[in-house]
Amino acid sequence: MNEPTPSVAVSSRRAPGPPGRWGLRNLARFARDQLGLLRAVADEYGDVARLELFGNTYFLVSHPDDIEAVLVKHARVMLRDGHSVILERALGKGLLTSEGERWKQQRKLMAQAFVPRRIQSYGAAMASVTASGLRPWLDGAVINLHQEMSRLTMEVVAEVLFGSGLTPSDIELVRDSMETVNEFFANSPEAITLLPAWVPTPLNRRVTAAVARLDELLYRIIARRRAGEPREDLLGTLLAAQGDDGARMNDLQLRDEAMTLFLAGHETTALALAHTLYLLSTHPEVERRLHAELAAVVGDRLPTADDVRALPYTERVLKESMRLYPPAWTTGREAAEDVEVGGYHIPKGAQILTSQWVVHHDPRWFPNPEGFDPDRWTPERAKLLPRFAYFPFGGGPRVCIGNHFAMLEATLMLAVIVSRWRLDMLPGQRLELKPSVTLRQAGDGLRVRLTERSGAPLTSNASGT
Ligand code: HEM
Repeated sequence: MNEPTPSVAVSSRRAPGPPGRWGLRNLARFARDQLGLLRAVADEYGDVARLELFGNTYFLVSHPDDIEAVLVKHARVMLRDGHSVILERALGKGLLTSEGERWKQQRKLMAQAFVPRRIQSYGAAMASVTASGLRPWLDGAVINLHQEMSRLTMEVVAEVLFGSGLTPSDIELVRDSMETVNEFFANSPEAITLLPAWVPTPLNRRVTAAVARLDELLYRIIARRRAGEPREDLLGTLLAAQGDDGARMNDLQLRDEAMTLFLAGHETTALALAHTLYLLSTHPEVERRLHAELAAVVGDRLPTADDVRALPYTERVLKESMRLYPPAWTTGREAAEDVEVGGYHIPKGAQILTSQWVVHHDPRWFPNPEGFDPDRWTPERAKLLPRFAYFPFGGGPRVCIGNHFAMLEATLMLAVIVSRWRLDMLPGQRLELKPSVTLRQAGDGLRVRLTERSGAPLTSNASGT
């Protein structure tokens, strides 16, 4: 009988990698230092390296051209990686966790809420919610950077997603429940071992209760919105979105997508901002240039979506921060067929790992990789980089749908914060990273002291946009 012909060219070369068939030694290293392990493996074994871990074979792919092959050229034969099943516990079958035809249809529907005109229209809420979220800040007070950024992005996403449909106690409920869900995702034994939800460990119980509370809230909002007047916020766009056959999303799809946007949309942007503010507090010269740009372009009013193109330095600061500390630090795939990447054979079923953390610190593309240098992103320097030397939002058909939304949100939020406040790290602290689904700050979070800048409080601009 003839073997079926693979649809992608396949080599028989076996990728090199650390010894250890069952991956026990790798597992010990992985438990100690995941970030270090990935970089060491890429350094030692090259651009396509094989790694045995948890009884699975992983291929760490670290050359920008090979990453492009995985995420773009061979996208047709790539599935989400085996670990995304963990996310389904909270997200159901939303965009992040679905595959095939179902994903394609959902992506088309969701894209209607992320066209440029729509994204621009969210700018006003992003800036004004941030400004009111800063009201509790006091001159001289100390805040927990990650917690505060998490609170602010949560409030912004809630407003953009649901309009004013959430009360402060609803937001509190979402924040607490999301914290429990994140604790589960953050390498908990329950998540790593894929322990079924019915096994009554204390964390499993808390996750089930948290998801139930979120469900109750989301279904309540969806029912209220179906019964009321159409509105222009993100949920309104999703409720009205129609596929080619005229079909709209049912309640379960809306619930899964709203939960996905809440989770994917708030934690990543909060981390990008927390890391950026940390870097600014340790690089006063960069902070001065950033503030000067904001003072010249925005002054004492609230920034608008239209201001963003006049803020190139602000954009460079954010890009450089996401290079050093990419909120999404790996993007995984599972090969649905045998495939060749970088001249090596990757068998069907293998897990493929591309790591923003590894590639963004590769001295071949970024000399002095640990240095914080926003001027790497001047157009002249940036155009010399291979396309996938920098990919904080992934790439190919599954590229982050919230990419432009996130950049607008982070730029406006940073502009509002830095126009009004200077943040100084309390002495004796060091940034330590804790890789989970996202790249978080370890421990209890960094503490910074607030100094209010002199000048009039931020006011909304005449058009209110
Ligand atoms: C700095 C902020 C953000 C970063 C670094 C980020 C990063 C990423 C990455 C790397 C992926 C690709 C995953 C993959 O290919 O496997 C992704 C997917 C996704 N992101 Fe983001 N994201 C950010 C903000 C947002 C925001 C604000 C939203 C929504 C409002 C969002 C919604 C999504 C969704 C729904 C997907 C799944 C897309 C699909 O599979 O079709 N993200 N994100």
